[in-house]
Amino acid sequence: MNEIESIELEPTLQPANPVEQGADVRRIHFDLFTLFPAMFAGPFGESIIHRAQEKRLISIALHNIRDYTTDRHHVCDGTPYGGGGGMIMKPDPIFRAVETVLTQPPGWTLPAEDIYVNLPAWDPQAPADLPPATPIILLTPQGRLFNQAVAAELSAYPRLALICGRYEGVDERVRNQLATDEISIGDYVLSGGELAAMVIVDAVTRLLPGALGFELSAHQDSHSPGLGGLLEGPHYTRPQTFRGEETPPVLLSGHHAQVAQWRHEQALLRTLSQRPEFLRTLPLSKKELLFLQRQGWSPSDQP
Ligand code: ADE
Repeated sequence: MNEIESIELEPTLQPANPVEQGADVRRIHFDLFTLFPAMFAGPFGESIIHRAQEKRLISIALHNIRDYTTDRHHVCDGTPYGGGGGMIMKPDPIFRAVETVLTQPPGWTLPAEDIYVNLPAWDPQAPADLPPATPIILLTPQGRLFNQAVAAELSAYPRLALICGRYEGVDERVRNQLATDEISIGDYVLSGGELAAMVIVDAVTRLLPGALGFELSAHQDSHSPGLGGLLEGPHYTRPQTFRGEETPPVLLSGHHAQVAQWRHEQALLRTLSQRPEFLRTLPLSKKELLFLQRQGWSPSDQP
């Protein structure tokens, strides 16, 4: 349990989001390119993402890359030139899928009766005129690392295309000629980009005004600007006492300023104990510095 010193700190709460006044209506259309569209049904059919679709804040079109193959066996992978193990995703079905979809208005999907047999015309040799303002993101463990700042950056676009790689990799021409961005959700290797795409859709959607029931919450999540880059402190709900552990009395006091100050101190302490490296890059106020120094922290501490 942390010993909290009472010291006045300015809480960095953001003002209520203007969506309530109708000032800021942002919507995003996601085009997801995958060999496994069925993987998305569960996560996208529940909770915030489901509600955001119902509220028309987001729309998601799943495009099966295999639908864009015209050979008899609908092959999407091949053995690597030069030998080695594993299979590589072929470039042509990916280029065809992405170029076909992105030259159509947001929301377009290939009609079921046209799959394989009646694809829109496409020239394998001629790059399509793709909308320049739509990021085409390749999910790969080699991409730039996804974080809250990248989520915020992506949430400003009205349309995003995400390509989910599979097998041992994706043909390099997709990287070089189609993708405009490459993102990794962490320094580990997944079986494919689908889970990474779900993570990105979730994190980006939460940032849209109106996506959460309670507008302040997304901005006061850990890593969000509403907390000034700090981690969130502890939360409590009923029962007041559980297994001998009491809810801190300040939270029951009804004193809003004291609650805000306590939460801010807790956010500093939580960050100090869990991610002290964050503290070195934050613009801390004098009071915050003093508070942290009293907890034994020094600005020159190495994580
Ligand atoms: N595909 C495989 N691993 C991945 C990762 N860590 N991030 C994004 N896409 C991936």
